[in-house]
Amino acid sequence: MRHLLSTQDLSADAATELLDEAERFEQALAGREVRKLPTLRGRTVMTVFYENSTRTRVSFEVAGKWMSADVINVSASSSSVGKGESLRDTAKTLRAAGADALIVRHPASGAAHQIAAWTTEADGSGPAVINAGDGTHEHPTQALLDALTLRQRLGGLSGRRIALVGDVLHSRVARSNAHLLATLGAEVVLVAPPTLLPVGVEQWPVTVSGDLDAELAAVDAVMMLRVQAERMNGGFFPSSREYSVRFGLNERRLALLDDKAVVLHPGPMLRGMEIGFSVADAPQATVVDQVRNGVHVRMAVLFRLLVGTEQTGDSL
Ligand code: CP
Repeated sequence: MRHLLSTQDLSADAATELLDEAERFEQALAGREVRKLPTLRGRTVMTVFYENSTRTRVSFEVAGKWMSADVINVSASSSSVGKGESLRDTAKTLRAAGADALIVRHPASGAAHQIAAWTTEADGSGPAVINAGDGTHEHPTQALLDALTLRQRLGGLSGRRIALVGDVLHSRVARSNAHLLATLGAEVVLVAPPTLLPVGVEQWPVTVSGDLDAELAAVDAVMMLRVQAERMNGGFFPSSREYSVRFGLNERRLALLDDKAVVLHPGPMLRGMEIGFSVADAPQATVVDQVRNGVHVRMAVLFRLLVGTEQTGDSL
């Protein structure tokens, strides 16, 4: 694996190896007072974020630091991007400054792919590029941490029915999850109003429903998606009130789920919109586990990209 740009590039074996590796890192660090492994000593990891983030940026930074990498955070607002520097020049500058890995979040779909093309030399050398969210396209490490959380909570993914609910149109999390969960053997159902489904969704490995109440009793997990007002130019249909009535996971709907079913949300959550105020803290909710797993998944991804497949975390 040279870069991580899309879950569509991951086979079931490759994805499972990453999830296994993440669990090995979790076990390697469990109970330690000093959470520091020498794994990436001497490597330089740069996070380059053109959009806001809490979970993804922080967990990549923690992952890199726990593996002894030098981690540099570049934000668009405080870099020369603010003076008009292009994405290409910024990427090439960071490459020249010594980046072994570039972790990129950008509002344009395809930005991470483009950076990988610009910074990979003809002989294949250049930094590993990790897509930390590109527009409405993909967020592969989010899907991997979600898959790990589901595997741990449900005991496996094969044959499990997972609902992705809400604003699928603007959700890179939904696309990455739909492909990865299907690759890992799950049945995925998208539950959304027709106005919040993307063009071409019929080519995704999913079924589609508009009736959340009807789906809830039959699913093993439900993933509530954030309503992405920042990508909607000021409004959307249905209205926010109608949306939360028809597609919000409230207390009544939580009771429709099987006792063993779980509730995911990638965060940040809009409590009272797509998820009820108390539902987010219910025992079925996995939000905190997802964040914790995010650090271990990102350790596994950095390890695989920067060290390779010859070693596993066991040998560290
Ligand atoms: N889930 C997610 O990507 O969260 P952040 O935007 O806080 O990174």
